[in-house]
Amino acid sequence: NVTRLADYLPPAYLVPRTHLDVDIRDGHTLVTATLTLERNPARDDRPEDLVLDGEHLELLSLSLDGASLPASRYREADGRLTVFAVPECFELTSVVRIEPEKNTALEGLYRSNGMYCTQCEAEGFRRITWFPDRPDVLSRFTTTVRADREHYPLLLSNGNPVASGEEPEGKEEGGRHWVTWEDPFPKPCYLFALVAGDLACLKDTFTTTSGREVALHLYAEHRDLDKLDHAMVSLKKAMAWDERVYGREYDLDIFQIVAVSHFNMGAMENKGLNIFNTACVLAHPATTTDAAFERVESVVAHEYFHNWSGNRVTCRDWFQLSLKEGFTVFRDQEFSSDMNSRAVVRVENVNFLVNHQFPEDQGPLAHPVRPAQYQKIDNFYTLTVYEKGAEVVRMQHELLGARDFRRATDLYFERFDGQAVTCDDFVACMEEVSGRDLSGFKRWYSQAGTPIVSAEDRYVDGLYSLTLSQHTPPTPGQADKQPLMIPVKLALLDPQGKPLALNDQGDTETVVILERATQTFSFPLPVKPTPSLLRGFSAPVILRYDFDETQLQTLLAHDSDGFCRWDAAQRLYFSALARIIEQGESAEQQLERLRPALEGVIRRAAEDPAQAALLLTLPTETAIGDRHSPLDPARVHRAAHAFKVALGRALGEDWRRLAESLREPEYRADGDAMGKRRLRMLALAYLGLAEADGIADYLQRTFRDAACMTEEIGALGILVSNGLDGAETALEQFAERWRDEALVMDQWFAVQAAVPGPATVARAKALMSHPAFEWTLPNRVRALIGTLVNGNPSAFHAEDGSGHRLFAEALKTLDAINPQIAARLGNGAARLDRLREDLSTSLRTALSEVREGASANLAEVLDRILGA
Ligand code: ARG
Ligand code: ZN
Repeated sequence: NVTRLADYLPPAYLVPRTHLDVDIRDGHTLVTATLTLERNPARDDRPEDLVLDGEHLELLSLSLDGASLPASRYREADGRLTVFAVPECFELTSVVRIEPEKNTALEGLYRSNGMYCTQCEAEGFRRITWFPDRPDVLSRFTTTVRADREHYPLLLSNGNPVASGEEPEGKEEGGRHWVTWEDPFPKPCYLFALVAGDLACLKDTFTTTSGREVALHLYAEHRDLDKLDHAMVSLKKAMAWDERVYGREYDLDIFQIVAVSHFNMGAMENKGLNIFNTACVLAHPATTTDAAFERVESVVAHEYFHNWSGNRVTCRDWFQLSLKEGFTVFRDQEFSSDMNSRAVVRVENVNFLVNHQFPEDQGPLAHPVRPAQYQKIDNFYTLTVYEKGAEVVRMQHELLGARDFRRATDLYFERFDGQAVTCDDFVACMEEVSGRDLSGFKRWYSQAGTPIVSAEDRYVDGLYSLTLSQHTPPTPGQADKQPLMIPVKLALLDPQGKPLALNDQGDTETVVILERATQTFSFPLPVKPTPSLLRGFSAPVILRYDFDETQLQTLLAHDSDGFCRWDAAQRLYFSALARIIEQGESAEQQLERLRPALEGVIRRAAEDPAQAALLLTLPTETAIGDRHSPLDPARVHRAAHAFKVALGRALGEDWRRLAESLREPEYRADGDAMGKRRLRMLALAYLGLAEADGIADYLQRTFRDAACMTEEIGALGILVSNGLDGAETALEQFAERWRDEALVMDQWFAVQAAVPGPATVARAKALMSHPAFEWTLPNRVRALIGTLVNGNPSAFHAEDGSGHRLFAEALKTLDAINPQIAARLGNGAARLDRLREDLSTSLRTALSEVREGASANLAEVLDRILGA
């Protein structure tokens, strides 16, 4: 059941117009779809049968040009409806019955907390009606939604509302009403959306540069109305930014966002009617952490930016997913950089990529940014398509420079407006505008795996030579790798850490392009430099260079590039940890070596507390484990824990001072205050690890008097993860206080699932029976099981195999409810082959059992991990 890029054929029939009538009743919904169909002139083979996609639909009637079709004229089988020998142009009307109430997969039309909503990307529309469910069939939609007025006063769809009224028969039934929406822009059906519910609305307006006044409507459950302000502010910033930076204006009279509790992903860019996971749109200081505030800002922007990069110009087929996702992630990252501290945002983005996408690209699930085949497209909404895809766009931005890149995106949006196109089309615009040949660069789209760039240098007679070599290890199905075009931005620092002039113009930074397997670049210099390489993380590669400790300390202390400073700190931590793990050296000893460098960072912390917090944060146990073979999570945990305790003790006075001096008298929401909170909570975390004198009391007070959720959950997490006095009481109080706030309860589950060590498996098991735990709520499942599996290796891989068994049980339960969520959770097993042998066997045994009877989604993931 494999779909291949190489097999692409244009659609046989086009659907210029679609009329939908969605009649929502108690227990079922009737969908009448009238499609205007035309044979596609691009298909010279003149196919005579029409084939539509549909799943979980009960076909009640089918008619062609108004005449009911006899059963002999069509066949329904395996998710397809074939209508035989249709004319060139015709109208097809189908009536189907669906059951949104029973839809726990959260694809198509479903119910969430009493409202109806949809999720159609990638292939959910086929659960609503029969349709050519592929992104290259663009249609103009008119949609009428009907429902009971009392329970569903609000009826929304894409575009503009054009008519509404009462249903005549409705009067006796208790008042049914309808609203008709018209979307003037042709769109693929994956961008269709519908909402029916009783929701509160925050309203505002935005006036575009050309003077169009756009109504902004943000909807949530009534209780959450006070959590929409941040999203509104973010939306208005995003709209202004896209005008300024890309020249893109919004194009409808109304833009709507609806917050939904039950949602598989973060959010969805449906035309004019974005639907969001509550976690990515609701924000209030009392319930939402600073990190989540930042996430809301970026996801609101991301979905808004899709209006151009995704909706006006969409994807020809799902292999091109990164065309819209990689580009839009790049756009949202740049937006966040402009709204916040650029250096901090870049380090956060790189940290995420390196810790999550790199492992994906080096394991059994590795695939190119533009995959060549898939079984279930849902499984390819991956970090590679999104985050590596964004880096591939970023490299083009760097290669062209900001001005030409903008000219190229202008050309792209203009040339392909209203079309479904490919990644090649995107790159062709970059080539056309810049006059550059990017044919070699395009390998980034088709070749999987993380390239390794090795650097060696020498300094002889005033000439510094830097030799760069590249190598990409094989990935499943791609044994041989070709060299890539790798831009390496660099500076060369003198012994005082000052950048040296690299040419007669006095430039201190340059970009060299590594295109072949090995190349040497030379610079005449007065002294032997410390190289500052891959500045800004100019390419998504692993850089190998044999830095000595002095060089790393120079970079950490002086480099003007935020990424290189952070990278230097990471290298220092990784090597200290390696000496503890591999050579059995003591944590205290290793800490003493690093101490001067860390004290230097702390001394300068006031300059940029958020950056200092990043520099003083150790790599996660997952990241540390990825550098040691075989993977032994318990051993990694012992080393990381010992090192953090040593760090907490040795710099105890500094942490105490920071914890006090960074305390703000009152809550403030700005970036400066957020940075201070971040560093303060880190200081408290080290004090908690060190079990410093009086820290339990201090944390209990911080927890009790917290001015915001960042402090409250931060203090709770430190109490709980270190088993400090008062932890259990605080957990109870927290659950009592927040039991009606779903997003806060998610954090309560996550904090407990994150406690390192095997005992957490039993706790997680108990929490699965907690009254607040719900298998049908993806956020809750991610909070408890996702945290355990993806963020807590020493519990997940508990030596007695209990974590693996719990994982297997959870997968089975979930797969019956929501295959997409089960498959995504299944990714958590991707390190199977890296594990210590006994652990690897235990995980394999647990998963093999789940494989039997698994859904197509989960089966594809498990087969790749199990190597079937
Ligand atoms: N396009 C959405 C975004 O902006 C994600 C939708 C993913 N849907 C899915 N079924 N995987 O990222
Ligand atoms: Zn997206």
